[in-house]
Amino acid sequence: MLAAATRSLSQDRQIGDTGFLWNLISPTQFAEIDFGPDLNVVVKFEGSNPGGSIKLKTALALVANCEAAGRLRPGGHVIESSSGNLGIALAMVCANRGYKFTCVVDPNAAKDSLELIRALGGNLVVVSERDANGGYLGSRIAYIETALARDPALVWTNQYANPANPEIHARTTANEILMTYPEVDYLVVGAGTTGTLMGCLSRFHEVGHPAKIIAVDVQGSVTFGGPSGTRRIPGLGTSQRPPISEAHRPDEVIMVDEAQTIIECRRFARTYGVLLGGSSGSVLAGIRTLQNRIPAGALVVTISPDRGDKYVDTIYSDAWVEQHYPGLLTRN
Ligand SMILES: Cc1ncc(COP(=O)(O)O)c(C=O)c1O
Repeated sequence: MLAAATRSLSQDRQIGDTGFLWNLISPTQFAEIDFGPDLNVVVKFEGSNPGGSIKLKTALALVANCEAAGRLRPGGHVIESSSGNLGIALAMVCANRGYKFTCVVDPNAAKDSLELIRALGGNLVVVSERDANGGYLGSRIAYIETALARDPALVWTNQYANPANPEIHARTTANEILMTYPEVDYLVVGAGTTGTLMGCLSRFHEVGHPAKIIAVDVQGSVTFGGPSGTRRIPGLGTSQRPPISEAHRPDEVIMVDEAQTIIECRRFARTYGVLLGGSSGSVLAGIRTLQNRIPAGALVVTISPDRGDKYVDTIYSDAWVEQHYPGLLTRN
């Protein structure tokens, strides 16, 4: 059943001549964590990839896709909307490939992420006007559309609509999980662009794997049809439905309150001595919600998309948490 998933990963890594960056991505950062005696939970840590997140794989695939389509040629100029991690990753790939890069971000982006994009040679445009759903994605995309009309030489990698985004996660992230934990019963995946989620759904369906695939999103996100609302932690959630999210349906969607995200991140730091990024806290909160409904002994695999260094001014700052979630720290 899993034959299709077991072909060599190295085949998938020969994309363009970005082998140098691909070689720095580690496929096997899995570790078991404690969720009580009845549940086996394994986390796939992606924060040790160069750029600090899962997004280097996405960035490499998006750029390769634009090159293969003949849209991106030597000396080209890439533009993308990002909440931070994809911006860092694209800045790396563009530096590696000799492209100019403009990253359109919003005020929720972590300050350190912006500094990293700058350090890698990227230009930053901060869009601070909210869209009709109260988020920034619509405004960031409107900015890009105007820029493309003004300068047709710009190339938009378009992580929300480019099929190369889910495809690379099907070929790498999902395959790595299937090869390492073929007995997985539940796969719990956070949803931002939904590239990781759709890639996992696509590969698991393709090989006929019976695991239940659970999406985790944050309250205030419209990706799965919920009402829009304020979100403060970058990573998960959207204020416009990503076109790639239409491809497959997860078995269940769990909507997490960002306060739960903060509690899980801080609990993990105290328990394991590791700072996780916000979306990792969200998926752990999702597993806690599911916990009582999962049969004893089941194996749950989840993905930690980035590490917590960039969140020391927010999730891990007592002052920031008290300002935005008064009383949360004293209650937990
Ligand atoms: C920290 C973090 N977690 C999760 C995600 C969501 O991943 P995806 O866009 O594949 O849904 C992102 C996307 O930017 C992210 O930066």
